[in-house]
Amino acid sequence: MNTSAIFSIIMQTKEKRATSHELRETINILGIETSCDETAAAVVANGTIIKSSVVSSQIKLHEKYGGVVPEIASRAHIEKIYPVITEAVRQADITKEDIDAIAIANQPGLGVALIVGVTAAKALSFALGKPLLAINHLHAHIQSAILAEENPELPAVALIVSGGHTQLYDYKSPLEPKLLGSTIDDAAGEAFDKVAAILKLPYPGGPAIEKIAKYGNPKAIDFPRSMLSPDSLDFSFSGIKTAVLYYCRGQDMKGQNKVDSMSKRQIADIAASFQSAVVDVLVKKTELAAEKIGAKTILLGGGVAANNQLRTALKQMCDSAVPPKKLLVTPKQYCTDNAVMVASLGYHKYKAGIFADLTLEPKASS
Ligand code: KG4
Ligand code: ZN
Repeated sequence: MNTSAIFSIIMQTKEKRATSHELRETINILGIETSCDETAAAVVANGTIIKSSVVSSQIKLHEKYGGVVPEIASRAHIEKIYPVITEAVRQADITKEDIDAIAIANQPGLGVALIVGVTAAKALSFALGKPLLAINHLHAHIQSAILAEENPELPAVALIVSGGHTQLYDYKSPLEPKLLGSTIDDAAGEAFDKVAAILKLPYPGGPAIEKIAKYGNPKAIDFPRSMLSPDSLDFSFSGIKTAVLYYCRGQDMKGQNKVDSMSKRQIADIAASFQSAVVDVLVKKTELAAEKIGAKTILLGGGVAANNQLRTALKQMCDSAVPPKKLLVTPKQYCTDNAVMVASLGYHKYKAGIFADLTLEPKASS
């Protein structure tokens, strides 16, 4: 058989495959997420139909250390990855053969955590003979904001605020969000976690600070709002964290942390003032980014996107803009890490034919 005959058979087979996919209305993507301290798997059909979402959180394992311990995270992922994937497939009421592709968040994140999900995804891809899709975890957080509205008015600015990252994107398509600005030191969620530790509040700090802040005065303490330079779209949150530490230990830092002798009201005032300062910076920078690219829509995602004050302040900014902007926020259950967002973005990569192979490696945060 000559080369053109072989080529023709390959093309016919490919066409047959394409036709059978076109005939089948549903494309099931299995998403897998292990970038930090959640082991998650989900099945999403056609990018938006959530058939299952299973998340095994490690909060209980890390809380006594006040942060994520990489070795503990890695071990827990190894323990949970198989039961979590099996449960996601079971809840979706499909068989493994009904999965069309496996989407795995392979970057950024903790190296020792990412590698567990990447290895599991590659093994499944090989065993089932299904394609592999490599997903950027932060781009997946953007995707979670448009789960309910697939076609937002563009251009959009996406604000992604998580435990490890704070980023602004120029968003024109799911596959190529363009980074506009990023944190140069602590991420917003990291600042919430560190300030919570100073205030001796439980881990993770974001929800704990939000809860106590309700009883405090956001204007009680004028914590710094770092804008870096007037037109910078980068973020810096280490200064505000240090300001809270100075406030609690005295300017010379020689004193003991006074939190133990503070009233609940005083702690609430610190939490509320800190939260307001962080929210102010996030909203101002998002507004600036929106002006720069002429954004019609703002997308909000990541763990800190669960914060009600941030959601309300962004809504006010969008409503008072001329002309007003549409705000699309991630549903609360998908703000923190999950695999629905990974599978949903995977669908777009699948449609675009952008596949990874078994040489895929995890890329840890730098
Ligand atoms: O996106 P995520 O689950 O993990 C990373 O990719 O890093 O985000 C976790 C972060 C933690 O720092 C946590 O304190 C913060 O999200 N967070 C919040 C709230 N809920 C979670 N921060 C502020 N307010 C909240 N309600
Ligand atoms: Zn995340």
